[in-house]
Amino acid sequence: MIQVENLTKYYGEYAAIENVSFAVEKGEILGFLGPNAAGKTTTMRILTGFLQPTSGKAAVAGFDVVSESLEARKRIGYLPENVPLYDDMTPRSYLQYAARLKGVESRQVNKRVEEVMEATRITDHAEVLISKLSKGYRQRVGLAQALIHNPDVLILDEPTVGLDPNQIVEIRQLIKGLGGDRTIILSTHILPEVEMLCGRIVIIHEGKVAAMDTPDNLALRLRRAQQIGVHVRGPEREVQAKLAALPGVLRVQVVRAGDSVVELLVDGEEKHDVREALASAIVSNGWGLRHMAEVGMSLEEIFRQLTSEEKGVAA
Ligand SMILES: Nc1ncnc2c1ncn2[C@@H]1O[C@H](COP(=O)(O)OP(=O)(O)OP(=O)(O)O)[C@@H](O)[C@H]1O
Ligand SMILES: [Mg+2]
Repeated sequence: MIQVENLTKYYGEYAAIENVSFAVEKGEILGFLGPNAAGKTTTMRILTGFLQPTSGKAAVAGFDVVSESLEARKRIGYLPENVPLYDDMTPRSYLQYAARLKGVESRQVNKRVEEVMEATRITDHAEVLISKLSKGYRQRVGLAQALIHNPDVLILDEPTVGLDPNQIVEIRQLIKGLGGDRTIILSTHILPEVEMLCGRIVIIHEGKVAAMDTPDNLALRLRRAQQIGVHVRGPEREVQAKLAALPGVLRVQVVRAGDSVVELLVDGEEKHDVREALASAIVSNGWGLRHMAEVGMSLEEIFRQLTSEEKGVAA
């Protein structure tokens, strides 16, 4: 549904994005994850026809976003980083205006406005001045505006930024509900958000794609070594020293030392499952094995690893 090939945008001498390529299948929710200044908004503005790329190309629903911009834009709903809402309008009148602007047939305008207000749950605020709406409700009006012409593709630039935790949950649920047939790209620097919503993630850093995969695969691929959480009933120092001396064990950290139970994090060498060795060492020393489980890498750790200079790109 969306193809992006070697997209590059220079601002003067500065490359905001460089050779960005990815594709999004119909019905997919793709997370566009990156720190500030990574190039997320730049890419989205090119996809939505607001910005011309320096080189490379992109197509939405088969239409080139530069040479067939009008056709492409008909199929895109865009929630920009800062939604330009008209403060002195009500959601209903603003959406009617947006509908006409987006070429919704006049006979359909009212029906369509009611539908998107229903979908984004703003019907009961339809007649409140936009200037009086909370940030969460303004964001809903922004989403409603993006949906007004029933586009196949939604491009949402940091849809939950600046919202309180309750509003974030609501907007995420809304977005999830908008999926299905629609293809969605959403940008964020909030990691749990992409884990919750997206089937696939593109990590962008300093204008370049650093990784692209499912959340699970990203975690798998980046797990260079095994990490195991172990709770042992036994003397802290002795437990730590004995386990650290086992073959294949790289490091043993004490996470918490309780009265009699010590909680440890054990790093094992890559492709070296140390769990059985840990278990028998604990038991043969007469200690109690209370808990043992492999610790998966959180997306946060993956992200830091991928975007930290030393570690570089794991492709
Ligand atoms: N109009 C412009 N002129 C010059 N430089 C720009 C312009 N727009 C963006 N940039 C630069 O391009 C880089 C990428 O910006 P972009 O807004 O795409 O990042 P982003 O990933 O959306 O960041 P954020 O998370 O802060 O929204 C930044 O370094 C930014 O300063
Ligand atoms: Mg941005």
